[in-house]
Amino acid sequence: MNPVNNNDSLKDGVIEIKHLKAGYRFSLDVFDQNNNLILEAHTPLSEGVLNHLKSSGVDRLYFDPTKIKNNESGPIQKAILSDELKDETYNHTKDILDEMRETFTRSPGEGISRGAIDKSRTLVDKIISDTEKNNDGVFDVVTKLKDMDDYYYQHSMNVAIIASILGSRLDFKPELKSAMGVGGLLHDIGFSSVSKDILHKAQLNDSEFDIIKSHTHVGYKCVEKNPRLHDIEKRILLLHHERADGEGYPYGFDMDHYQNTIPREVRLLGLIDTFIILTMPKPEEPGMTPKEAMRFMINMIYASYKTSYAFLPADVRDFIRALGFIVNKGELFMTAGDLVRINTGEIGIVEEMNRLYPLNPRVRIIKSNKMETLKRPIVIDLIKSYKDYVSNIYDRNSSGKFSVNKQNSISRT
Ligand SMILES: [Fe+2]
Ligand SMILES: [Fe+2]
Repeated sequence: MNPVNNNDSLKDGVIEIKHLKAGYRFSLDVFDQNNNLILEAHTPLSEGVLNHLKSSGVDRLYFDPTKIKNNESGPIQKAILSDELKDETYNHTKDILDEMRETFTRSPGEGISRGAIDKSRTLVDKIISDTEKNNDGVFDVVTKLKDMDDYYYQHSMNVAIIASILGSRLDFKPELKSAMGVGGLLHDIGFSSVSKDILHKAQLNDSEFDIIKSHTHVGYKCVEKNPRLHDIEKRILLLHHERADGEGYPYGFDMDHYQNTIPREVRLLGLIDTFIILTMPKPEEPGMTPKEAMRFMINMIYASYKTSYAFLPADVRDFIRALGFIVNKGELFMTAGDLVRINTGEIGIVEEMNRLYPLNPRVRIIKSNKMETLKRPIVIDLIKSYKDYVSNIYDRNSSGKFSVNKQNSISRT
């Protein structure tokens, strides 16, 4: 028997009858709009049932009909940041990065100019006040690229804006909000010392990759002794590529070091950097949608799902709580009907999302942490035990089976 193999038949827990054929089966129970169980999980759809549904005028089935329409909101069009301020940020980012490239060529070791820092701080203050006023707006990370230089400017601009918003949403103290934005703007200035030949190359050998990695130290050297910069801003330049699993650079700190010696703000900046890399298109490939990137990042929480970009679960949750809706045009990146894994190891189906704490929805548990199917599924509201949360979201692949998204290649910036 064939599993469902047409993606169009499965969207947000809704199944279009017109896409179904006899023999199809699902990993979940399927209901009609009146909450009647039509097809049990893993049971093939018979010709007779399918004909009966069609002749009864049923055109859709649901994984959980009572919950599908709850908590769904339409796309939000309002921008969190005005176009003028976005343009000003872009132009300023370009000016700084170009100025740094000139400095490295003319007099290496000179460091970043006082004017560039002062203007960055004024601009970040404006971003913070604008975005705090437009609290329910959205931010579009995905932009068209002119060339690789443009990628570098837009990358730094996007990190700065998102980091400023995150600082506000997580109620950081004023100087730390500013540090997130300024740190974001400057975090990759070390790349200005790297030749464009290497910077724009798709495949790097080991020594070229070492040069790329040096952008952390080189950037830090430009700001290390500068009294106008906050300590967090300096550490952002040096440590934004360290990772919890020890696979980061420049030091490759282990989990203990990562957790205890890297400030939370710096760790969150590293997370934002990764999110921006995942979502921005490159000249040769499209980026992930924000929804795909969010799901990808959630799947990094699961400890045995090792990637080179591991982050602390608490940080991922903060990141998603602060930005999950802003970068997704106000839409949910996880919906009723999604199959998820809880950090306890249990498997369940999302029944209802919690907009304030997106990783703590109400879930119908269908498998125990020993992978035994429960005879009577249990419904738990994860918001009641905040220590438990969604640690994996399974995607349906082209053959209709569920899987955790695979590790994508992640660019080096
Ligand atoms: Fe970087
Ligand atoms: Fe970066």
